[in-house]
Amino acid sequence: MRIGADYYPEHWKKERWTQDLEMMHAAGLKVVRIGEFDWSLYEPSEGDYRFDWMDEILDFMADHDMKVVLGTPSATPPKWMCDKYGDELYQQDIRGNSKVFGTRKHYCFNSEVYRKENEVLVTKIAERYGKHPAVEGWQIDNEIGWANTTRCYCEKCRKKFTAYLEKKYKTIDALNEAYGTVFWSETYNDFSQVIVPRVGVCYDSDPKTQGQNPGLRLDFDRFSSDSAIEFMKHQADIIRTYSSYPITTNMLDADVNSNTGIDYFKMSRELDYVTWDNYIEFQWGKASDHVVSANHALIRSYKHQPFWVMEEQAGPCGWSTLGPAPTPGKLRLWTYQSVANGADTVVFFRWRSCLFGTEEYWHGILEHDGKPGRRYAEVSKIGAEMKVLSEKFGALMPKAKVAVLKSFDSEWSHSVHSHVEGFRYDTLLMDYYRAFYDLGVSVEFAAPEEDLSDYSIVLAPALIMVSAEQKKNLEQYAANGGTLLVSFRSGVKNMENAMLEATVPGDFAELTGIEVEEYDPQFQKQTPAAGVFGAGTADLWCDIIDPKDTEVLGVYTGDYYAGKPCLTRNRRGEGTVYYLGCDLDHAAMDRLAEYLCKEEGISCSYTHQEGVEQVLATDGEKGALFVMNHNAHTVVVPLEKSGIDAMTGKPFGRQVTLEPYGVAVVEEQ
Ligand code: GAL
Repeated sequence: MRIGADYYPEHWKKERWTQDLEMMHAAGLKVVRIGEFDWSLYEPSEGDYRFDWMDEILDFMADHDMKVVLGTPSATPPKWMCDKYGDELYQQDIRGNSKVFGTRKHYCFNSEVYRKENEVLVTKIAERYGKHPAVEGWQIDNEIGWANTTRCYCEKCRKKFTAYLEKKYKTIDALNEAYGTVFWSETYNDFSQVIVPRVGVCYDSDPKTQGQNPGLRLDFDRFSSDSAIEFMKHQADIIRTYSSYPITTNMLDADVNSNTGIDYFKMSRELDYVTWDNYIEFQWGKASDHVVSANHALIRSYKHQPFWVMEEQAGPCGWSTLGPAPTPGKLRLWTYQSVANGADTVVFFRWRSCLFGTEEYWHGILEHDGKPGRRYAEVSKIGAEMKVLSEKFGALMPKAKVAVLKSFDSEWSHSVHSHVEGFRYDTLLMDYYRAFYDLGVSVEFAAPEEDLSDYSIVLAPALIMVSAEQKKNLEQYAANGGTLLVSFRSGVKNMENAMLEATVPGDFAELTGIEVEEYDPQFQKQTPAAGVFGAGTADLWCDIIDPKDTEVLGVYTGDYYAGKPCLTRNRRGEGTVYYLGCDLDHAAMDRLAEYLCKEEGISCSYTHQEGVEQVLATDGEKGALFVMNHNAHTVVVPLEKSGIDAMTGKPFGRQVTLEPYGVAVVEEQ
């Protein structure tokens, strides 16, 4: 466990570098990420490559015993290049408008000229620094897909998309059939005619769900995700020719990723390690503790491996307006939350607040004046503590017995047709995560085709479509004695985003043993329900279930379907399959999670206190319980087992007292 900082030496006078490095060492910083936006320094004008400035920086880092993650600068094509290539390079948005120079990420992933330019530069960088003693890893691009840049609607993309479709469907008739283009005379005669789904003439109120064909839209989402991944992989392949240092790219939280639309499971396969950027309270909102925890879990799940936070909030943040200054203790708390949930390196963004540019207001560890202030003192404390922890433990991760399935196909399908006002796939996954989080039970996310045999409980919220392989995997899991919970809006579509003819829950009818007679979207209404989850309320959706031979564990208690089942259980040999036909409020979800844990013998005796997070993490040999107080008040947390304070070696009794934003690491004995 260690910390670092995102550093921009090129933004400061060289005379300052030595002091920066001395201060970094004094604070226990072990790694810096640099260089991810510097194309115009590498190539100020066409073909004029310059490396002396980066040679100097890297040699300086080596001389000052600082490790470096080196970025590739593909997020920021320089002005001369944008002027030279224009629309050959630029992206186009959903309305067909070209992106413009300025800010960043205006390039199209499928621009051949940009790929070529990029290939030349990345090759030179990798050749030159691939074995540099200061470098320990690579970051490709920066937050690929951020600011709605995964999906580009330009002609370059359209051409490539039609080739992708031809490869997939072979004949245009097959495509027409899959998409049901007979609807509204959308039939294509040839692949070359196929459009990219820009905003159509008729669309409903939210432009994201504009009325273009749902099959076309889902394929376009898949194609766009693949294009971004391919762009990334192209660079990774070049780097691997010259360097054995591990490669990553910094990812985004679930909420932002859903808008960008990259299949992170797929992308992670091309990476050596996974990293993400963790901003908790800033101009664009404040994240609750369970959401940040879920994001860590999600990132951990892409490779089921320890990960890094490549940018961790270090000060008040915003571009035009600012979020609050992190209250004393929060930088430490957020670092511990990252570490407890599987981060073995936490890199603060940024070392020092910049004097110029778009992010003048995005504060780093140091203020603009560069003096060591309160946040520097807090980071120094964290640095010292991480040293103690890393002497005791290897990389720590929770060992989850519960998995929530996350499917990017389902996510994109839900964003095409989101069923009812208020439905969001991400939020639904969060609701499931939170119920177990409240019980102190660790949860992992998994793709539906993954080996699930390590999990006692697998939850499939709104898994709207499954491939034959995924279906078989889930059937196998249940056949082998697993416990699967399938929710409403699962199994009702095919992989082309068209409705199945089979009675709901379609692909899950056999597994769940039920039939859904009818459903009632909860538009401006709520329906009460009661069962093993106590009394609860559905806010989004109610499937009215014919239970057939299954056990009924919950029923609706209102509306015209009062008395009809909402929760069933189908015992299948050793395995168990639940079907939950509705969403449930937070308290009822908590009770459902508790019920499932008890049924499965998963220990959850922990009494939930709002804002208290408990994570049991292990390095494979030794373990520690992280107890974290996200509240502005002191809390007393009972401990199931006594242990010693990993920091001081002193024994804890059967409880810990945590100051506001306080943390305890209870070492198992
Ligand atoms: C991140 C990005 C950084 C920086 C930061 C502050 O999203 O990766 O480069 O821009 O936000 O805005």
